[in-house]
Amino acid sequence: MTPAKSSAPPERPWTTGTAPGSVPLLGHTLELWRRPLQFLASLPAHGDLVEVRLGPSRAYLACHPELVRQVLLNPRVFDKGGVFDKARQLLGNSLSVSRGEDHRYQRRMIQPAFHTPKIAAYTAAVADDTRAAIGSWEPGRTLDISDTMHALLMRVAARTLFSTGIDEATIDEARHCLRIVSDGIYKRTMAPLGIMEKLPTPGNRRYDRANARLRQIVDEMIRERRRSGADHGDLLSTLLRAEHPETGKGLDDGEVLDQVVTFLVAGSETTASTLAFVFHLLGAHPEVEKRVHAEIDEILEGRSPTFEDLPSLEYTRGVITESLRLYPPSWMAMRVTAAETELGGRTVPAGTMILYSAQALHHNPELFPDPERFDPERWLGDRAKEVERGALLPFGAGSHKCIGDVLALTETALIVATIASRWRLRPVPGTTLRPEPKATLEPGPLPMVCEPR
Ligand code: HEM
Repeated sequence: MTPAKSSAPPERPWTTGTAPGSVPLLGHTLELWRRPLQFLASLPAHGDLVEVRLGPSRAYLACHPELVRQVLLNPRVFDKGGVFDKARQLLGNSLSVSRGEDHRYQRRMIQPAFHTPKIAAYTAAVADDTRAAIGSWEPGRTLDISDTMHALLMRVAARTLFSTGIDEATIDEARHCLRIVSDGIYKRTMAPLGIMEKLPTPGNRRYDRANARLRQIVDEMIRERRRSGADHGDLLSTLLRAEHPETGKGLDDGEVLDQVVTFLVAGSETTASTLAFVFHLLGAHPEVEKRVHAEIDEILEGRSPTFEDLPSLEYTRGVITESLRLYPPSWMAMRVTAAETELGGRTVPAGTMILYSAQALHHNPELFPDPERFDPERWLGDRAKEVERGALLPFGAGSHKCIGDVLALTETALIVATIASRWRLRPVPGTTLRPEPKATLEPGPLPMVCEPR
């Protein structure tokens, strides 16, 4: 998945521009609100660094991969402010929202929980869980693949985190709460004034209840695990035993709770949406699906996939990478300049919002020829080496790069291989994919018909 061509600054001066279509008072806010994906994908045509007006404020979208790297590799200047400050109040001071020294400290403590041998252990039961979940599928049955993947992913996430000791009903309840909480966090961090969420509306009460219940479920798992002292080799046990390599200090229960809720918010919907997009793309491209089936049949010879099989499933991984390119779940993110700085030849004052967008990078024809075409072969052999470094960015980069990237890719590949070795999913005629850019890019309802292979 690592492209190889270098992304040195272009041998020309940086180009800067302003997004077209600004209207008085609102600037580009309406464009960004009404059709964000198309708007973002249109901006690289206006420069390497493009100014966007958000009401009275100026923000900049870094469009060239090298400028995106400069932003993401310099967290002291391009800091997590703005929406992250609001998210901190909702998620606690967990890894995804912490800043500076505090973030570096947390990351060093938690990173070992995501080392490859750990991930191999956490995901040992993914194929079994997937087989159990698809055990009730019947030939000719129509299911909403988005919803089905969300339910499955919640089971897989629960197993990864807690291995045992959480029953089906609690997993369903956690899933229900998580959807409300994720949606609520997104709305609250995006709300300009921060007043509406304080009113006692039915929606706000629903959010408060779901948030309290989700945290209660996780809290009970932590207490039980501390009581028993058992090491189940899952993510929760690893977090409870985590120690900072220099200070030897661990995480207290409240800190573990915040991290686990963050993993659920950051990791479940992103991975579930990726799976739904993959099955949609396979259903729409029978020739690609055929190659995936042939590869899976050849490598697995009828048995369940394991972590060790994944390097051999090269074409299947190409399909997943290409799906993440076309439909990046994390479609836009931001930083705020902590001091006046220079970016793309422009002086940017302190406190300026800098955006980067996987959607804008991945759909840029300068970086990906024929960008709307689903072409998994972009990621195979020499063609993969042609992709400019930093052009593919589904998991971000730098010190805030997704800590769950390998886990997410492992779960996705294991689930795709398990399902595709038994079932083919046909799109219901007349269904149109309409990706919904919310906290993550969601596929929306996608009815598909099960056909046994
Ligand atoms: C396909 C699935 C996933 C995608 C596309 C994704 C994407 C991302 C991206 C783009 C970032 C960086 C955001 C930024 O630059 O501000 C990020 C950060 C993060 N992700 Fe993921 N993610 C996925 C799965 C997961 C999973 C499975 C977990 C945990 C179990 C996870 C936990 C996190 C955390 C904790 C951070 C913050 C890291 C830090 O700031 O140090 N993600 N993710």
